[in-house]
Amino acid sequence: MPTPYSHYAVGAAVLDEHGAIHAGCNVENAAYPQGWCAEATALGAMLMAGGKRAKAVLVSGPGPDLITPCGGCRQKLREFGDDDLLVIAADPSGVKQTWTLVELLPASFGPGHLTHNHTRLT
Ligand code: THU
Repeated sequence: MPTPYSHYAVGAAVLDEHGAIHAGCNVENAAYPQGWCAEATALGAMLMAGGKRAKAVLVSGPGPDLITPCGGCRQKLREFGDDDLLVIAADPSGVKQTWTLVELLPASFGPGHLTHNHTRLT
């Protein structure tokens, strides 16, 4: 069982640039901080399958409160998605809300910061 501690089961599905969909769940750990989110599992599955870019992600929680990706997952999505990456929140009753990634993570830090106009230390 992947969520023995919170009992808050999350599923994520990432659509990649090839049109393939990669699923993931949250995986908890007795050492609580070592657990990870469903989005992280799904992004890893995308990369393992050869996908390079996330075009959309659906995150499904148990409800009734609206699920939104945590801050860390917003940053993980930023690494593999553009500003217009579609983020879809759902629960067992269906889709509840959508955003673009830039709406959830404005003024973000990303890979470009490490490739433009800075002095390398090595
Ligand atoms: N969780 C996710 O998997 N994705 C989210 O977007 C929000 C939170 C998980 C982490 C943890 O296993 C559980 O939900 C409760 O925080």
